[in-house]
Amino acid sequence: MALISVSLLAGDFLHLAGDVEFSCEYADLLHLDIMDGVFVPNISYGFPVTDAIASIATKPLDTHLMIVRPENYVERFAKSGADMLSFHLNATEKPAEVVSLIHECGMKAGIAINPDIPVERLFPYLADCEFVLIMSVFAGFGGQKFIEETYRRVESVKKEILRQGADCLIEVDGGVSGKNAGALKSAGADILVAGSAILGAESPIEAVLSMR
Ligand code: DX5
Ligand code: ZN
Repeated sequence: MALISVSLLAGDFLHLAGDVEFSCEYADLLHLDIMDGVFVPNISYGFPVTDAIASIATKPLDTHLMIVRPENYVERFAKSGADMLSFHLNATEKPAEVVSLIHECGMKAGIAINPDIPVERLFPYLADCEFVLIMSVFAGFGGQKFIEETYRRVESVKKEILRQGADCLIEVDGGVSGKNAGALKSAGADILVAGSAILGAESPIEAVLSMR
């Protein structure tokens, strides 16, 4: 069993309420992608949108920060209703402090890494994080092709989590669909993020079911 987190980046921004309601009914989490145009070469959306989503969401908000100096915004995202907050390991000089700050603000903390960062760099933080986010595409854009190497990366992290006896979930994000969901779960993934495979599908309900 894995939780499904719908990336609203693939939603219809003129009618986002519909996508939020759909995701709350059929999925487990809402994935909010925050991009600053500095850490990644794209800009997504900010507080007016996250506040609005939070006002009608009935499932937890899984907020993924792709911004530099995430520490400056942890409190504000807590205020904006985030339940889970992840940031990229190389976006800050003090990852351990950011994790503590996220906890002080009452949220679950996650550390994300792009496909070019060795998974071993997550190992010192596994005991302190509720989850880690392994990118299966380079952060910045929805609709990219899944990188196959991800399976081995998930397996390595899973093995280390078990070795340490850590209580840490593995989230996978980017190019995830019904085609790779089963293999990702077998590799050890606990949370599957999908945007275009669900909200861009002819039948989003079927797409969620195929991932389950
Ligand atoms: C990419 C984002 C992803 C993205 C996933 O930078 O972090 O969450 O929206 O979109 P799909 O599922 O379309 O690859
Ligand atoms: Zn994301």
